[in-house]
Amino acid sequence: MSKLVIFSKQIINFRKKIYVPGDKSLSIRWVLFSSLANGVSKAKNLLMSEDVVAAINAVGQLGIESKIINNTCEIKGKGLDGYKYKKNLKINAKNSGTLGRLILGLLINTPYPIKMIGDKSLSKRDFKRISDPLSKFGAKFELKNNKNLPLTIFGSSKLKPIKYIEKKGSAQCKSAVILGGLRTNGNTFIKAKKSRNHTELFCKSLGLPVTVIKKRNYDKIKINKAKKIKKINYSIPGDISSSSFFIVLTSLMSKSELVIKNVNINDSRIGIITILKKMGINIKFLNKKIYKGEKKADIKIISPKSIKAINCPTNLNSGAIDEFLVIFLVAAKAKGISYFKKLDELNQKESPRLKWAVKILSYMGIKTISTNDTIKIYGNPKLKLNKKIVIKNYLKDHRVFMTSVIAALSFGGKWEIHDKDSINTSFPNFLKIINEFKTDD
Ligand code: S3P
Repeated sequence: MSKLVIFSKQIINFRKKIYVPGDKSLSIRWVLFSSLANGVSKAKNLLMSEDVVAAINAVGQLGIESKIINNTCEIKGKGLDGYKYKKNLKINAKNSGTLGRLILGLLINTPYPIKMIGDKSLSKRDFKRISDPLSKFGAKFELKNNKNLPLTIFGSSKLKPIKYIEKKGSAQCKSAVILGGLRTNGNTFIKAKKSRNHTELFCKSLGLPVTVIKKRNYDKIKINKAKKIKKINYSIPGDISSSSFFIVLTSLMSKSELVIKNVNINDSRIGIITILKKMGINIKFLNKKIYKGEKKADIKIISPKSIKAINCPTNLNSGAIDEFLVIFLVAAKAKGISYFKKLDELNQKESPRLKWAVKILSYMGIKTISTNDTIKIYGNPKLKLNKKIVIKNYLKDHRVFMTSVIAALSFGGKWEIHDKDSINTSFPNFLKIINEFKTDD
C-alpha cells in the first residue's frame, strides 16, 4: 500500500519562526548553468529534493561531476562544450517538468541522439510545447503520441536563431528557448507572456548576451550565443511555493503569527501574497534584500479575523500558478463566492490540479462550479469537518498531498492521505516542519 498519513486533529494557535528549503526553480537552474560553467561552482542551501537530484544526475550522465559536502553542492563545469557522453544516452527527468524541459534547450546541438524518460506523471505531460520551438533551431524530435515522453532529441551542428512567441505564460517554455538561444549564433527573439524570470536573472548576473525589454503584458527577450559561463557561487533562498502551505495554514487559523525566514520574493512569484492580501490577510515582507538580481525577505503572516472572497485578476495567475490548490483552501473559508479564471494551465501540472481542487473541495463539503479553466468556490467561514476523507490516486502530485495536509490541520475531520513520499520531489522535510506545529502550544 502507498505510504499513508492520518490526520485527525486540528492544530491550535501558534506563534512561530520557520525556514523552508531552497527554491526549486533556482536550484535546478543553478545545476544546469553550473554544468556549463568554467570551473567549480558552489551552492549553499541547494534544495536536496528528488527533482534537483534528478538534475544533478542528468548532468552527471553528460560527464559533469558533482559532490555534496555538508550543506554545499559543488559542480565541476568544463565549459560550454564540456559535456562528454557515449551514444545511446538515456536521461531520466523523473517527476520534474523544469528539468525535462529546460535541459532540452541545452541539448539542441547534441552530436548523438539522447532519449528522455520520466515518471508516470511527467510521461502524461506536454512536451510538444518544447519540441516545437526547439525544432525551429534545427534540432529534431521523436515523441510518443507526438506529444509525450519518452522522447528522443536529435541535435544539429547547424543551428539557426529563431523568433518565438510564448503565449501560455510558461517559464519552462521561455527558458528552454533562452537556453537554446545561448547555444546558437545570431539573435534569437522571444515575445513572452509574463512568467517567472529566474532564467533571465541568472543570465544577467552571469553577464550573458541576453537582453529583456519589459512591456506591460509581455517581455521582449533577445538572446545571442554565449561564449563562456563563469562559475556561479550561489546561496539559494527559501522557496515561496513551499512557504505557501504555511502562509495558508496561518491564514486559516485565528490568533496566530508566523515568520518564514529568507524566502525568494521575486515579483514574478508572489501572486499568492497579492491574492491573500486582497482576501484580507495581513502579510508583510521584512528585511528585504537583493541577491544576484533576485529579491528575498522574511515573510510575516498574521491570521485574520475574517476572510474576504476574491474575483481573482487573471494577471496574477502566472505568479501564483503553483499555489492555486492551497489558495483555494482560503477561498473555502472566505465570506462569499470566489472566482478564478483562465486556469487551463493548472490541469497541465503534475496532476490535473483544477480537477483535484474540485474533488478535494467537494469532499470538504464546499460547493464549486467549474469548467475546464474556471472555478467558483462558495466559501463557508464556519467550515469545520468531522467526517472521513481519503485522498489517493492523485499521480503522487506533491502539492495535492501538502494541500490536503493543510486542509486536515485547519478544518479537522479524519483525513487518510496516501503517497506521502510525493513530498520528496519538492519539500522532503514538510512533515517534519508540520510536526513542530502540532506539538506547539
Ligand atoms: C517552473 C515553471 C512553472 C511551474 C513549475 C516551475 C520553472 O511551470 O509550474 O513548477 O521553474 O520554470 P510552467 O512553465 O509550465 O508554467
